Amino acid sequence: MAAAAKDGDDLVQVAFENQVAWVTLNRPEKRNAMNPALNARMLEVLETLEGDARCGVLVLTGAGDAFSAGMDLKEYFRDAEGESRARVLKVRRDAYGWWRRLMWFEKPTIAMVNGWCFGGAFTPLVSCDLAVAAEDAQFGLSEINWGIIPAGNVTKAVAATMGLREALYYIMTGEVFDGRKAASLGLVNEAVPREVLRTRVRAIADRLLEKNPTVLKVAKDALKRVREMPWEQAEEYLTAKQEQLYFADKTEGRKQGMKQFLDDKSFRPGLEAYDRSKRSA
Ligand code: COA
Repeated sequence: MAAAAKDGDDLVQVAFENQVAWVTLNRPEKRNAMNPALNARMLEVLETLEGDARCGVLVLTGAGDAFSAGMDLKEYFRDAEGESRARVLKVRRDAYGWWRRLMWFEKPTIAMVNGWCFGGAFTPLVSCDLAVAAEDAQFGLSEINWGIIPAGNVTKAVAATMGLREALYYIMTGEVFDGRKAASLGLVNEAVPREVLRTRVRAIADRLLEKNPTVLKVAKDALKRVREMPWEQAEEYLTAKQEQLYFADKTEGRKQGMKQFLDDKSFRPGLEAYDRSKRSA
């Protein structure tokens, strides 16, 4: 007998711990495959967390032995065959919507890849600013194995992180690779033994929490944007964003950083972040 459908609220778990919001895709019995209800819920969760002071860094992970087995083949793909065009569009927009929201999220984001990561899951994986995998996590661009292409911006996510030869190899063969390989391909920042995965992600989050959050947001977006720009546009854009920060950063971090280095001699910017608890007079 089929298990009762989960409430939207149960499909994503959020736990706060010292400024980190641990967001867990929670359909372990379906390997956290993304169905329409989960996608709609993730959109709400991201919307809420953007304004929640308890979230300084967002970590995305999965319950059980999967990060996510990609799109739900039944609920996202097959059921759509009998649905109205309006419903199909809504379901697609919710999925693409939360991935895009994640890509440009206000706070730093880290994907913690704890296990299976297939197909559609590559888009939220790459939408996160950073990614750390368990060494034995398993990745695959499995679309070719069941007769579709990696759409849902998976191909774009792969092109943004992996080299041409490797990307074509895995898109065309659908072969599975592990976390270590994912790190060597540049798909994730690093792979660590499973038993230290959470500790390592927490340490990276703590490092990010030391930084000026207004500057972090502009810095991460800037890299993602300038990758698509010619040199001269990038130069202009970066200058404009830096000048915008003089006004956007109400804490005047730049001035404080210079003061603590040049006048107070209390820190060295080459080696650490300035002390954000001190404000300019
Ligand atoms: N869509 C829908 N259901 C999925 C799913 C997906 N992407 N991935 C897993 N499930 C479901 C299975 O149908 C099964 O449901 P059931 O218990 O009601 O029969 C349950 O999750 C467990 O899957 P199972 O295959 O038995 O688990 P496993 O641990 O042996 O294998 C995977 C895990 C991830 C290797 C395997 O489930 C798989 O290949 N999934 C599809 C991955 C994929 O190609 N995704 C790309 C989508 S774009």
